[in-house]
Amino acid sequence: MESIKYTKGLTFDDILLIPQYSEVVPHDCIVSTKFSKHIKLNVPLVSAAMDTVTGSAMAIALAQEGGIGVIHKNMPIAEQHAEVQKVKRAESGMIQNPITITKDSSIGQVKDLMEKYGISGVVVVDASKRLLGILTNRDIIFEKNLSKTVCEIMTHQELITAPEGTSLDKAKRILKKHRIEKLPIVDKNGRLKGLITVRDIIKKMEHPNATIDKMGRLCCAAAVGTDKKTIERARALIDAGVDALVIDTAHAHSKNVIIIAKKMKHLFPDIELVVGNIATQEAATKLMRLDIDGIKVGIGPGSICTTRVIAGIGVPQVTAIQECARVARKKRLPLIADGGIRYSGDIVKALACGASSVMIGNLFAGTEESPGERVQLEGRRYIEYRAMGSLSAMPKGSADRYFQEGAKKFVPEGVEGRVPYRGYVRDVIFQLVGGLKAGMGYCGAQNIAALQRKARFIAISSAGLREGHPHDITITKESPNYEIRGV
Ligand code: XMP
Repeated sequence: MESIKYTKGLTFDDILLIPQYSEVVPHDCIVSTKFSKHIKLNVPLVSAAMDTVTGSAMAIALAQEGGIGVIHKNMPIAEQHAEVQKVKRAESGMIQNPITITKDSSIGQVKDLMEKYGISGVVVVDASKRLLGILTNRDIIFEKNLSKTVCEIMTHQELITAPEGTSLDKAKRILKKHRIEKLPIVDKNGRLKGLITVRDIIKKMEHPNATIDKMGRLCCAAAVGTDKKTIERARALIDAGVDALVIDTAHAHSKNVIIIAKKMKHLFPDIELVVGNIATQEAATKLMRLDIDGIKVGIGPGSICTTRVIAGIGVPQVTAIQECARVARKKRLPLIADGGIRYSGDIVKALACGASSVMIGNLFAGTEESPGERVQLEGRRYIEYRAMGSLSAMPKGSADRYFQEGAKKFVPEGVEGRVPYRGYVRDVIFQLVGGLKAGMGYCGAQNIAALQRKARFIAISSAGLREGHPHDITITKESPNYEIRGV
């Protein structure tokens, strides 16, 4: 028998970056990057398309901080459509399609609309979209008779409006001058074209790093799979305004996924398309031929994954990133390193190896914005976090990720558990970006491209790894960026 051939694979704990002469301090480091060919991020962080990680709340928070969230797909198409809409409506320069109502509608209907969309006012228009007035919370808050019509309540004095093309700065001045909260934008015939609100302007000032589209709305990605309804789902997500679609599978180097990716590229040529997951050069080369906008790398590194033990398959994540980056780099194709990030140092290593951004599940699952179930145990707070290939997640829609769609009985490739509560995601991001910038400073790299160019690695032993963690001490105070984690 021929001897077994193998290559050696390394992961985050196997390597360190070697410090280098530096003229750069962390504060000066710029961490902007690309999620996909046309989506720029100010922070290289992406939240995982998992049903205990990314719904609209997480996607909004990530985009506000300069990253992006990928809304999971373990829900009916209409629900995922609504989640994307929530992100796209959360913040904008100008709201393109403001919620409107007619003057014959009842106050009860107005209240329902405001509650449904979480807004403080609606614009009143006639059948041809001509602006008639605005009704705000203040106008209706004390109104007990819910069957009264909008016409009876709304103020009929002349409205302050602005023409199409009004800049945000100009709008700000008008809002200030007239001490109003909402400025309808109308065309020459008085038809409603948009709405600029004080709330949106304030949000913009609060989140200067936000990932936004051409119209100033937060960016949002969403997952699709490979099942029968994939095209229908994609169409609905695009209709909701999604910026990127992510074909999310456990093995993208396979015929079905390639067929779906080709079809999507053909049907929706204007939408950013990211495909994953892969872990080899051959897979990256094959996917790149499809002219997609990003690849996602990682087979089995995730904290909840059992693919490697159940199927005996995988590539340690550092090697997987390096292999795929070798080909992606040639075409400047953004590469998302997905899974296995336990500390900020892992992000530095992933980017230095050639990733453009990292996708995170576990570290974000414990935050206020995650949709996971909250649990209290012995006085401590936790949030449930489960694999998309776990027994309870697969029947909800993720079975096709593991090519088990329609199965009566599943072979899980992931576990279910809980993670400690970690507060708001912006605070987690602050620590992760802080660690990343520290690492870049040690390498003398002011930006991610320089980090990738300059990086030199050293392989370490288990003694070296032990030495790198706190040792010979009982930790008595929790640190915001370090905790001892199990295997
Ligand atoms: P972390 O380490 O951040 O990883 O928790 C999140 C990533 O894990 C992947 N994922 C899975 N991988 N079986 C797997 O092999 C699963 O059931 C599973 N569920 C999620 C996914 O790529 C995610 O982004």
